Amino acid sequence: SKPIIIDTDPGIDDAAAIGLALFRPALDVKLLSVVHGNVSLAKTLLNARRLKAFFGTDTPVAAGLDAPLLYPPRENNSSGVHGVSGLDGWTFTEAPGEVETGHAIEHMRDIIMKSSGHVTLIPIGPLTNIALLFKLYPEVIDRLDAVVLMGGSLSGGNVTSAAEFNIWADPHAAKMTFASGAPLVMVGLDVTETALITEEDLLTYKSRSKAAAMFDSTFRHYGDGDMTAGVAMHDSCAVAFTDRPDLFTTVEKRVEVVTEGAARGMTMEVPGKPNCRVTVDMDTEGFRNWFTETLAAMP
Ligand code: BDR
Ligand code: CA
Repeated sequence: SKPIIIDTDPGIDDAAAIGLALFRPALDVKLLSVVHGNVSLAKTLLNARRLKAFFGTDTPVAAGLDAPLLYPPRENNSSGVHGVSGLDGWTFTEAPGEVETGHAIEHMRDIIMKSSGHVTLIPIGPLTNIALLFKLYPEVIDRLDAVVLMGGSLSGGNVTSAAEFNIWADPHAAKMTFASGAPLVMVGLDVTETALITEEDLLTYKSRSKAAAMFDSTFRHYGDGDMTAGVAMHDSCAVAFTDRPDLFTTVEKRVEVVTEGAARGMTMEVPGKPNCRVTVDMDTEGFRNWFTETLAAMP
């Protein structure tokens, strides 16, 4: 199966993405590297440890950067969307899982360099850890299968009219990542806003699966959707692309990131040599089937 590393700031839709990745037979989650983002690193790290225990996985959890490269840190960036804890709507009863000693970037490097198969990096938070990994250890870049990141948009933002949250939260790190030469896939709002999961999709599972019950309950707290119309599974789309690229249409593009001013965090298509593949369309019905079929395998 495919070795993957998920770099995450959980986060309600991060929690779904992590759960789905853990229960896909073709994916092997080698590490959850944690970054600041939706809420502070202290909270995203605790949430990652809670998810490790909740899903009963041995996958190591390691702490990364607690602030953007240049902009000042913000404690509750997205509490309006994910709640004050970052995972509002569910009370986790399991004791939080262990956290590794040592920095997430060191763990990422070791796993990528030692893996027999090429690793896929799946960043679903701000790109701070990824930018510094590539800066400190550029030798990892050639050893990656792909970097499938959830972030950006070619059609307007969610945190501002120009910017998607993960890119906006650390635009300098995003700029470095897009300039790194790594094999990037940008899974942006263009598709993720169409990846909707409704209460009806979870209905048959929530009485027999605690994962489905947790998703149902947290999705109701997820501030940018309603459960009847459906909630956008942004981060799960990056996992879905890695597992089932056939569900997506991509186009090669050159994308640059605006770091300052009113358009901070905007991902702009510019002329020139392509630096990433951008998902421009997805099979939303196929995605929904993929999501529920995976849910059926969860505890
Ligand atoms: C992204 O922002 C976060 O709030 C979500 O977890 C997702 O990674 C969507 O813009
Ligand atoms: Ca996220």
